[in-house]
Amino acid sequence: MRPWVKAVVFAGPMTLALLGAAVIWAGKDKPATSADYENAALVAHGSRVYADHCASCHGANLEGQPDWMKHLPDGKLPAPPHDPSGHTWHHSDGRLFLIIKDGLGDDYPTDMPLFKDVLSDHDIWATLAFIKSTWPEEIRAKQPRPRPSPPAN
Ligand code: HEC
Repeated sequence: MRPWVKAVVFAGPMTLALLGAAVIWAGKDKPATSADYENAALVAHGSRVYADHCASCHGANLEGQPDWMKHLPDGKLPAPPHDPSGHTWHHSDGRLFLIIKDGLGDDYPTDMPLFKDVLSDHDIWATLAFIKSTWPEEIRAKQPRPRPSPPAN
C-alpha cells in the first residue's frame, strides 16, 4: 500500500470517529431548554435533583402530602402530588418552569420554595423532564401547550 493510501485508510475513520465523539460530547454538555422526557440522561439527572430538592415535600414517589387539598391550620396548602392524581399536568411546561424558578407569586402565602438561587435552568428542566417521564402518554397529551407566538413583523 502506498503511504498516502495508508494515511487515508487509517486517518480517515479515525478523524471521523473523533469528530463523532466531539459532536456527541458537545450535545451532552448543552444545557436543556425544554422538559425533554425522552432524553434518558436528562431524566436521570432530574430524578436526582427531585430526590434532593423536592421529594421531602412532594413525596419520593411523587405522591404529595396527605390531604393535600385541605388547608393547614396556618391557612396554607400542603404539597400536591406530581403524579397524574395531582394538578401539575394542568399547567404547561413553561408555566411549571416559572413556578419552580420564581415561585407562586409574592402575595401568596405558601410553603413552596423559590429555586432560582438553588437550581440552574438546566436542573429545573431536568426535574420537569423526570416528572413528565413518569406520566402516561394520555396525561402528557392533555397538558396545555403554550400558544404559538404571533409572527414577528
Ligand atoms: C418545603 C416543601 C416543598 C419543597 C421542598 C418543594 N415544594 Fe413544590 N410545593 C410545595 C407546596 C406546599 C405547594 C403547594 C403550593 C400552594 O398551592 O399553596 C407546592 C407546589 C408546587 C407546584 C405547583 C403545583 C403543581 O403541582 O403544579 C409545583 C410545580 C412544584 N411545587 C414543584 C416543585 C419542585 C419541582 C420541587 C423541587 C425542585 C418542589 N416543588 C419542592 C412544597 C414544596
